[in-house]
Amino acid sequence: MTDRYRIALIPGDGIGHEVLPPARAVLDAVARRHGIDLTYDEFDWSCQRYLEQGAMMPSDGLDQIRGHDSILLGAVGWPGVPDHVSLWGLLIPIRREFRQYVNLRPIRVLDGVPSPLRRELTDPGVDFVVVRENSEGEYSEIGGRLNRGLPSEMAIQESVFTRAGVTRILDYAFDLAGQRRGVLTSATKSNGIIHTMPFWDELLQERAADYPKVKWNQEHIDALAAKVVLNPSRFDVIVGSNLFGDILSDLAAAIAGSIGIAPSANLNPEREYPSMFEPVHGSAPDIYGQGVANPLGTIWSASMMLDHLGHPEAGAEVLEAVFGVLADSPVRTRDLGGTAGTEEFTREILARIG
Ligand code: NAI
Ligand code: MG
Repeated sequence: MTDRYRIALIPGDGIGHEVLPPARAVLDAVARRHGIDLTYDEFDWSCQRYLEQGAMMPSDGLDQIRGHDSILLGAVGWPGVPDHVSLWGLLIPIRREFRQYVNLRPIRVLDGVPSPLRRELTDPGVDFVVVRENSEGEYSEIGGRLNRGLPSEMAIQESVFTRAGVTRILDYAFDLAGQRRGVLTSATKSNGIIHTMPFWDELLQERAADYPKVKWNQEHIDALAAKVVLNPSRFDVIVGSNLFGDILSDLAAAIAGSIGIAPSANLNPEREYPSMFEPVHGSAPDIYGQGVANPLGTIWSASMMLDHLGHPEAGAEVLEAVFGVLADSPVRTRDLGGTAGTEEFTREILARIG
């Protein structure tokens, strides 16, 4: 029996074009061994397209990929195009239209990749997941600006927290903690933000009743940020609103050593729509075209895609190859202290998959 999947590939801008081909090569190698048949459709949606045609993607873009099983994205953003254009013109419409309300970011301090933290802070090992609410919260379109350019100028930005939206992300996080080490930390700020955050905390307590096996607590985001740096080993799953989760996950990715290895998944857990997998890093204009980009963030994201498609054994095989190369081969890209280019590093990983 062969499982067939159609993948939408969106390289985007800059090194997005350099990290997607390695991920595709790794996917193809592992898929063959597991009887999985992957076909790809590539889309040129990007800042480049915006500059030439006035839009990041065509007006029926979402319909073109609605029927795909998954989306694998490189990075979008380019100097000369404001970052809110690339975000709101492509990434956010995909996340929202396809109900990708979970943003998942695993963080691990890996053998062979030094963390910027002192060794004793990362012992006995760092392995946790940030679950970020990905569809509402602080990143809303509600608000406006008045009196532009006048002394009375003002801006108002509203946050939106719904019972349905908060409940489903908390349920996802409790579930995930239950499948891992059973510890959930919720990021809050109910001392300063007095409407939405107490609501979040109440729903946390409400949902916790259904997960008696999960040990949970809540921490104010500022104190939590300090603890993630000072004691990262104690975390298993951290759940946060859109803004808190965004900031925490970048902080956490920095602890893991290089932004070049950090993966992420934008999930529609109900599988009514395609989910999207992308590295955490951006388009890196400073190194684009040199062939030195680290492909691991994208390859790790591709492994999460295999998990989501229902092939965790194939996903695990990808990670084993990646972690193996990091642990016992000197071959690595510059951001990890090596001298290899993207292609050489990819060949080393492919050699492990066999
Ligand atoms: P960036 O992540 O592109 O680069 C930050 C630094 O990390 C640079 O020095 C870069 O060379 C390095 N770096 C990033 N990825 C790397 C990799 N795979 N291998 C080796 N080194 C790597 O962030 P920056 O410079 O702030 O943003 C550049 C553009 O990317 C902006 O337009 C920004 O909006 C966009 N961006 C897009 C994201 C996305 O598509 N999800 C996420 C972050 C930024
Ligand atoms: Mg971010």
